[in-house]
Amino acid sequence: MALIAEARNLISKAQKVVVLTGAGISAESGVATFRDALTGLWRNFDPTKLATPEAYLRDPALVWGWYEWRRQLLLKAQPNAGHLAVARLEQQAPSFTLLTQNVDDLHERAGSQQVAHLHGSIFHPYCFDCGRAYSFTAAPNLTKEQKVEPPHCRFCAGLIRPGVVWFGEEMPVAELNLAYAAVENCDVFLSIGTSGVVYPAAGLVELAAQQGAAVIHLNPESQPIRFAQELSLVGTAGELLPQLVN
Ligand code: OAD
Repeated sequence: MALIAEARNLISKAQKVVVLTGAGISAESGVATFRDALTGLWRNFDPTKLATPEAYLRDPALVWGWYEWRRQLLLKAQPNAGHLAVARLEQQAPSFTLLTQNVDDLHERAGSQQVAHLHGSIFHPYCFDCGRAYSFTAAPNLTKEQKVEPPHCRFCAGLIRPGVVWFGEEMPVAELNLAYAAVENCDVFLSIGTSGVVYPAAGLVELAAQQGAAVIHLNPESQPIRFAQELSLVGTAGELLPQLVN
């Protein structure tokens, strides 16, 4: 059986489906991934200067400006056929959980009802000191290296920080627990557009396979097969997902 037909079959028979997405699913919406050669954000920017709590405290305007620049790009991006297919799958599967490492809101805008953001959201900044949540709706108009002073908390005057999980920080406990619970007895685990190098999210694939789920990768790069029931579908999310989901 062709791999795509095998994957369709596994998905249509599954009682419980878990989807994990990474930056690759938003690539066809024009959003840069992190590690793709040439275009990846971490090929062009230094994460130690932009994506750690220490970096933020060292130069808040540099970091806040960078995330505001990315927020501006994300506000202009539109969900693609891959996001739309994931939203349809949520409607069709008897039980479905969507876990994303992405800080964009393209799954929500494609119609996904429940999205667990394992790495936070660029649209949900909060006070670094008291934790109070903020939301800024105005679209910034920035160039990529432009520094912007972050706003201060109205209540404690602390610095407001981007709502993303940085290197060296813990993933949000509620989302992580939801992820482990979903993976525990899933039948199919779809890993879409992720390089699988950032833990603990990357470890979910192994957990799913160890407890007997079929693992299906969707990625333009062929993925190594490590488990008994594991398929690597080679192609983009926007091409492959509509073929897997009616
Ligand atoms: P990466 O940039 O590490 O990996 C993107 C993956 O998407 C690669 O495997 C690409 O081959 C694949 N890809 C590229 N275009 C694609 C397409 N059109 N369709 C499907 N796949 C495609 O991104 P992530 O795995 O998401 O962390 O990175 C994990 C984390 O590292 C991110 O959440 C971020 C980063 O540091 C935080 O922000 C905390």
